[in-house]
Amino acid sequence: MSLSGIFLMVFIAVHLGLNLLLIFDDSGDLFNQGAHFMATNPLIKIMEPILGLGFVIHIIWSFFLEYENWKARPVKYAKKNMSGASTWASRNMLILGALVLVFLVIHIIDFFVKMKFTGHPLLEETVVGGVHMENAYALVSGAFINSTVLCILYIIGGILLGLHLSHGFWSSFQTLGLNNKFWIKRWQVIAQIYAWIVAVGFAVIPLYFMFGLYK
Ligand code: HEM
Repeated sequence: MSLSGIFLMVFIAVHLGLNLLLIFDDSGDLFNQGAHFMATNPLIKIMEPILGLGFVIHIIWSFFLEYENWKARPVKYAKKNMSGASTWASRNMLILGALVLVFLVIHIIDFFVKMKFTGHPLLEETVVGGVHMENAYALVSGAFINSTVLCILYIIGGILLGLHLSHGFWSSFQTLGLNNKFWIKRWQVIAQIYAWIVAVGFAVIPLYFMFGLYK
């Protein structure tokens, strides 16, 4: 669970970095170059099914662990542990993860399926630095510009993911045994910083288009 989680957290950091190019270059050239690199680089192509597998393992394992916990204690504690060690996110990891999954399914249908399989009129070819490529920028920016509902969904998606990671990040390292007195506080602080960057970073992109800042 923790290894698949760490693998997914690395992907999320890379994905966020690439997506932020959407708001740092309004011509779309930088984002298109990044998306083209990701779509054509042989190493990334090998990583894609591994990433899919990472998600599947992470999701199936989370349900399995929840079932094992339930089997061990089918009747819940009468009083919840409200101590400092237990946060709202840590007590609701499964529901947060399930909501992120709902977001992810919508997201994959929205962009990935169009870019990889069905195509879309907005994706028509563009040329950047003499190289022909899909206009991924037109597809993504167009989707946000044309739908406030979609923007709100992505803002909520970013916040849910941030909350999920605020516990998941340090919990992964704790599971791997890096939970001695010296490290535990440090991992918790790093987890909060990472979670905030993810939540704010992903939410800023739809907000940028929603408020017309690209003009
Ligand atoms: C502002 C927010 C986001 C934007 C603009 C965005 C954009 C994109 C785009 C354009 C693709 C298709 C890439 C391709 O097929 O080459 C994609 C794929 C994907 N996104 Fe996102 N994304 C966002 C948030 C997220 C979040 C929060 C997650 C994780 C929960 C996520 C997970 C994925 C996954 C797993 C794929 C498929 C694998 C891949 O193509 O790299 N995305 N995203």
